[in-house]
Amino acid sequence: MTILGIETSCDETSAGIVRKKNNKLELLSNVVSSSLSLHAKTGGIIPEIAAREQIKLIIPVIKQALEQSTLGMNNIDAIAVTYGPGLLGSLLVGVETAKTLSYVFNKPLIPINHLIGHIYANWINQDLEIKFPALGLIVSGGHTDLVLILKHGKIKWIGGTRDDAAGEAFDKIGRLLKLPYPGGPAIEKAALNGNSKSFDFPRPLIDSNDFDFSFSGLKTAVLKEVSSIKYKVLSDELVADLAASTQEAIIDVLVKKTLSAAKRFKVKSILLGGGVAANENLRSELIQNTKYKIPDTKIFIPQKSLCTDNAGMIAAAAFFNNEPIPWDKLSANPQLYF
Ligand code: KG4
Ligand code: ZN
Repeated sequence: MTILGIETSCDETSAGIVRKKNNKLELLSNVVSSSLSLHAKTGGIIPEIAAREQIKLIIPVIKQALEQSTLGMNNIDAIAVTYGPGLLGSLLVGVETAKTLSYVFNKPLIPINHLIGHIYANWINQDLEIKFPALGLIVSGGHTDLVLILKHGKIKWIGGTRDDAAGEAFDKIGRLLKLPYPGGPAIEKAALNGNSKSFDFPRPLIDSNDFDFSFSGLKTAVLKEVSSIKYKVLSDELVADLAASTQEAIIDVLVKKTLSAAKRFKVKSILLGGGVAANENLRSELIQNTKYKIPDTKIFIPQKSLCTDNAGMIAAAAFFNNEPIPWDKLSANPQLYF
């Protein structure tokens, strides 16, 4: 079986083709076109600008994904598309395109929740033996959620952020430090030259007895430091130290909460997903802590290019959540959740 995935929930326009062969999901192509450079100028995403770019890009991106896979539409068995959550204008581009392709080529249409897509990036190019129950940590620009996956299609939300998402905290703090957008990769890079012990930033809710997160206080703490700097001059050294201390504070909370949830629910696997999962320190801290503290639990982290938004993960999710609906019954749902 071969599935074409389409993803346009935020500023990326992506099409990817995944084939199931010998009990493995092979990624045949995964084209991601981002309007990031346009948003870098404004320091954040302007939804109308994102959607206008996506409407121009969607057909060339799908064409390129087909060409790279050397397949034609006649080799595609189903079309999977992100229908939420996300920006309405952006989602509409992907959803309406997928509906058109489904109608014209008479292909089943499988709607996929973007957040669940992030989790299924873990199945790409892996053996399919991920054991349940599994704990999913989704850390992206819009979400920080812990979910319990009892089996395919049965996902229970157990906690999430009460205010800013982890990626949002990176992005907002990146802006305070006058780093380029998006803040996550920029903070990671700046932190390489910094001392993470320079500033003792808060680790909100780290010891709370639930699985919730809160990152807005961290942004306020960084703002307080930046505002107190003499003559408001942010030297490279200071930015590096602030970046390293910020990154460590976010990672400490994510790792501690994930491990305590994994212990509480006695999960067999931990699955990481979302743009922040591309962060090298988060990846290594989670791997190390899992290995030493809960050695019976196996941790899965997608390769970096599959952590940020891409359509390959949407196609992958469709193999396990294969519930096609008639094309005229599908609409975008920006508020979709678990
Ligand atoms: O999953 P994603 O591509 O889009 C959403 O669904 O939101 O995540 C984007 C987020 C941004 O906030 C970005 O700053 C963050 O992921 N991010 C990172 C890294 N790469 C992307 N955060 C920390 N370290 C990174 N290397
Ligand atoms: Zn995402």
